Amino acid sequence: MDNQIVYLNGEYLPLADAKISVMDRGFLFGDGVYEVIPAYSGQLFRLEDHLERLDNSLRSIRLQNPHSHEQWRNLLARLLAQGLDQSVYLQITRGAAPKRDHAFPQNVTPTVFAMASGINPYADHDNGVKAISTEDSRWKLCDTKAITLLANVLLRQAAVDNGCAETILFKDGYLTEGAASNVFAVIDGVLMTPPKSPAILPGITRDVILEIARKNNIPCSEQAISKTDFKKASEIWVTSSTREIIPIVELDAETIGSGKPGAVWKTFYKLFQEYKQSIR
Ligand SMILES: Cc1ncc(COP(=O)(O)O)c(C=O)c1O
Repeated sequence: MDNQIVYLNGEYLPLADAKISVMDRGFLFGDGVYEVIPAYSGQLFRLEDHLERLDNSLRSIRLQNPHSHEQWRNLLARLLAQGLDQSVYLQITRGAAPKRDHAFPQNVTPTVFAMASGINPYADHDNGVKAISTEDSRWKLCDTKAITLLANVLLRQAAVDNGCAETILFKDGYLTEGAASNVFAVIDGVLMTPPKSPAILPGITRDVILEIARKNNIPCSEQAISKTDFKKASEIWVTSSTREIIPIVELDAETIGSGKPGAVWKTFYKLFQEYKQSIR
């Protein structure tokens, strides 16, 4: 992978040659934001939505976007291989300052990095995956896509340590999201997901699923979901740009529904693939 070409601060160069200063505030403080954008057959998926969310994240950390949306489109397109399904990761940090000080430095140029990776969302997921649940230990700005991900790292590792694919989070008895995903549940035949708030990342995949549901007259609702109601779900899914829609068949060692991906998931899997095809 070392000969993979990545973007760093205006240059396209082999990954092995992409170097930043140890004084970079991304390294020292996690002072930056990021996006992950899927690309199907070389076409960036819902790019405008991702760039709008990037604008919101940058506004939240009071950093100016170094590029216009058009510049981002061109910058990222050059990283994509024609015809492949990939995702692009982009990150902007507040840059490298001469000294380590928490307060914002003056006159420092942000560091901009981007790279493409392969995706294969359904590789192991035909039978669904297992999850655990725990208290949401993160901060109060979860709608900012910050690179400061230590809590998410620890929460995801807890899932891996338990032979599971994801950790589902609850705050004060209510569902928030996954360690790196949004969460949907089918409860009494209605597809539900928590409403947008600072407690969750406003996932682009989440928006697509709600759009698909509304277009197809499938009952859905954005509402607070208590742990008690969540435990009654006949289906649970986690969603993200790189994993799309993954059915959870076991939560905290208890079987969900029939223990197989459910009928509503199957419908949405099909509709989601059709939607992807329609924009290729
Ligand atoms: C904490 C968190 N929530 C939700 C998501 C899903 O967002 P999206 O569908 O835009 O990838 C992610 C994506 O990685 C995430 O890290």
